[in-house]
Amino acid sequence: MSVLVTGGTGFIGSHTVVELLNVGEDVVIVDNLCNSRIEVLERITAITGKTPKFYKGDLLDVELVERVFSENKIDSIIHFAGLKSGAESILEPGKYLNTNIISTFNLLNAMEKHNVYKLVFSSSATVYGTPEEVPDYEIDLVGKVCSPYGLSKYLIELLLKDFASQRKDFKFIALRYFNLVGAHPSGLIGEDDGQSIPNNLVPYITKVLLGQLPYLKVYGNSYDTVDGTGLRDYIHVVDLAKGHLAALNYLNNTDVKFDVFNLGTGKGTTVLQLVAAFEKVSGKKIPYQITDIRPGDVPLSFASVEKANKILGWKAEYTYEDCARDSWNWQVKNPYGYSKE
Ligand code: NAD
Ligand code: UFG
Repeated sequence: MSVLVTGGTGFIGSHTVVELLNVGEDVVIVDNLCNSRIEVLERITAITGKTPKFYKGDLLDVELVERVFSENKIDSIIHFAGLKSGAESILEPGKYLNTNIISTFNLLNAMEKHNVYKLVFSSSATVYGTPEEVPDYEIDLVGKVCSPYGLSKYLIELLLKDFASQRKDFKFIALRYFNLVGAHPSGLIGEDDGQSIPNNLVPYITKVLLGQLPYLKVYGNSYDTVDGTGLRDYIHVVDLAKGHLAALNYLNNTDVKFDVFNLGTGKGTTVLQLVAAFEKVSGKKIPYQITDIRPGDVPLSFASVEKANKILGWKAEYTYEDCARDSWNWQVKNPYGYSKE
């Protein structure tokens, strides 16, 4: 029996495939490579000594999905595939809602037809919108989202909950990720955002350190934090990957129908604290300028992790300094991501 990993050549998917192979699971990947590269497979093999079965294809293609389910004995699914930029989704709402929601529908239909009952879904802290208080608890109000991307995550959570409640045997877990950073300690796999000007903080910092961008813009220094800069819960991708194995284990061993868990560290780090960590691991100064706040930014965001600790038996192990070390190691070894230049 195999674990089907959709989006398995992507950033989080590739790290999760490594962890699955390391514990002896058989893995089948489906990915259309719209935001990842085929070279990832060789890197996974270099780390694990194993090569997962791979289908290049789109989850919007019902025939492809049917073929994957009929050619493999699938036991459970980790569903990463989807479009993930909040900013881009504001420009192209239809594309985001269609891809993320219809892909999930197609998977659910195939699961029903082939009697596959367990799925772990990639949700996001973005479903909390702009919380009135932090940390974010799983029982907090969700759905006041700031983008079509956030709306797609919220609607898929509702869809899974409803689907499970209407049918015997189906079990789903939605994992709400906080800010993903770090890379595999080998430096062989990591985040390749492919953009010349990244939106997110860590890829921006590493491009400044590599001399590919002149300086970092720090978006605001009058938030209610130790140094006034925005605060986030930065979680290492290897910790996050292990959270998926804990979620699968929970699905396999309980009669849960649907549940949600935050995956974060439970600690907040400011922009300037993260900048200092990157300066330490790289031995270089990071030039920066304080600018106005970025419209739409949440001032503070970090997770309550008690539920995941208690019920999944999972806890993040890496610190934000470890994240800086591994992100930098990946970027130094792969200054242009998976491409040669
Ligand atoms: P990613 O873009 O690196 O990986 C997603 C993968 O899915 C890519 O390899 C892409 O080619 C593939 N894909 C996209 N649409 C597809 C389709 N229709 N059919 C088949 N394959 C398709 O992203 P990631 O950072 O690894 O994120 C994985 C999941 O986690 C996404 O659903 C994302 O929304 C969610 N998430 C990510 C973050 C983050 O900070 N990275 C935070 C919260 C939630
Ligand atoms: N920041 C800067 N300069 C930059 C980029 C970011 O100062 O060049 C600051 C932001 O203002 C924020 C912090 O760094 O305080 C983190 O910003 P990111 O863009 O890295 O991450 P966000 O928390 O804004 O958003 C990310 C994803 C969203 C997702 C959210 C919660 O991009 O899609 O995490 O999971 F919804």
